[in-house]
Amino acid sequence: MDLTKIISGINSKKLIISVFGLGRIGLPTALMFTRAGYNVIGVDIDKDLLNDLKKKKTFIDEPGLLDLLNKAIQKNLIEFSSDFEYAVKKANILIICVPTPISENKVPDYSAIKDISDKIGNSLTQGQIIICESSVSPTTIRDLIIPIIEKKSELKLNKDFGVCSCPERADPGKIVDNFDKVTRIVGGSSYKIGKVIIELYESITNANIIQLSTPGTANAVKLTENIFRDVNIALINELAVLYEKLGIDVKEVIKGASTKYNFQPHYPGPGVGGPCLPANPYYIIQDADKMDYIPFLIRVAREVNDRMPAYTLDLITDALNYVGKSVKGTRITVLGLSYKADIKDIQISPSLKVAHLLKEKNASIQVWDPYYKGKIIKDIKILDSFQEALKETECIVLLTDHKEFRDINFQHIMKIKNEDSPLVLVDSRNIYDPDNLPKGIVYCGIGRKILET
Ligand SMILES: NC(=O)c1ccc[n+]([C@@H]2O[C@H](COP(=O)([O-])OP(=O)(O)OC[C@H]3O[C@@H](n4cnc5c(N)ncnc54)[C@H](O)[C@@H]3O)[C@@H](O)[C@H]2O)c1
Repeated sequence: MDLTKIISGINSKKLIISVFGLGRIGLPTALMFTRAGYNVIGVDIDKDLLNDLKKKKTFIDEPGLLDLLNKAIQKNLIEFSSDFEYAVKKANILIICVPTPISENKVPDYSAIKDISDKIGNSLTQGQIIICESSVSPTTIRDLIIPIIEKKSELKLNKDFGVCSCPERADPGKIVDNFDKVTRIVGGSSYKIGKVIIELYESITNANIIQLSTPGTANAVKLTENIFRDVNIALINELAVLYEKLGIDVKEVIKGASTKYNFQPHYPGPGVGGPCLPANPYYIIQDADKMDYIPFLIRVAREVNDRMPAYTLDLITDALNYVGKSVKGTRITVLGLSYKADIKDIQISPSLKVAHLLKEKNASIQVWDPYYKGKIIKDIKILDSFQEALKETECIVLLTDHKEFRDINFQHIMKIKNEDSPLVLVDSRNIYDPDNLPKGIVYCGIGRKILET
């Protein structure tokens, strides 16, 4: 495949880049190319989203993103379109950022990948390179994307067009900042194509970029990182549940174990959430299935982590029983719904799951999350202020460790509490030190026995 046009286009910034899927990954990616001076066509099936973007509006809460969007529009470097044929024909580089969720029955849903591969194949011309930033299994590019594109376009991989995998590894909440910091991984359909795509990313970011031998290897790297984390969190969750029963404090254990040179601390919690960790293991599980291989550890880790919201409910129940109350009818203040600290994102959030479990048990919950002030999230009303959430509270359940929850003034809460019985505090992220809490609190964390302060 002749790559001279792409190489000279990188040097002159004269390439046209089409980005398909303008969500949490696609929009920042598109804007990073405009930041470097490239012309970008941003494509999506969601016309409302495209109209919002044209008006410089986005639902994505990422520091620095709106500024990039304003600049790109001001400099006329981005156009938004739902015309896939136009976007495929016009561009030199086509970047896939469509969603790859898992279905209810825990199977990867590659319908958007199939759809975009069809559309790319229908209009592809010689000399173009397709980059897949979506998270997919190690076999998806080889066995799904490339065959669809070759069949539809009647063009040949590496002779007429190239394919590259560059799975996104940025940390939600820091995606713009991470763009120049987190090492990129690139695997091309040929060594030369991978090398050219490295040059392309080098022209837009200061981050390190490493080349892997195939697109599938790059996807395996991305999945390995996330599965590594999921399995390790499952291990510490399992130990936390056991240690609580044995009367041993898991926080103290992790602190002690961390003094050994080869121990990597992971922390227990109410479950594992977000777009990647709870989904990515199922991509590998499906590939393993095709090979008649059962990845026991990966499967069990998923089950352990999926059980944590129910365990958290048990913990809340035990703590309330300890003071002679039950979940039903008790006024419980729930803190945090995001799946992790300091971001506005509830995708597969264990905190949301625990809140729903409490509702199912007829608890009288009052929910506060600064990122969703006054909103209704999946039938749960979020209050307008923290003060409101404290009204007549009998129990506080911390589910997401947003920064502002670390400095809660429990002295003040104990003062305004109008009931004689102790305040129950369930700390599902183990962020509080019971030694520093005022008297009159019944405290429990994940993997920590119930304590009275
Ligand atoms: N969000 C993250 O933090 C994160 C991190 C790393 C990797 N990823 C991966 O990046 C990919 C994209 O995820 P996301 O979080 O940006 O998803 P998202 O849901 O935020 O956005 C996806 C966008 O794609 C659009 N879309 C859906 N089907 C389409 C189609 N057929 N053609 C064109 N557009 C289509 C949707 O309208 C939406 O705007 C996924 O594979 C995900 O696993 C996400």
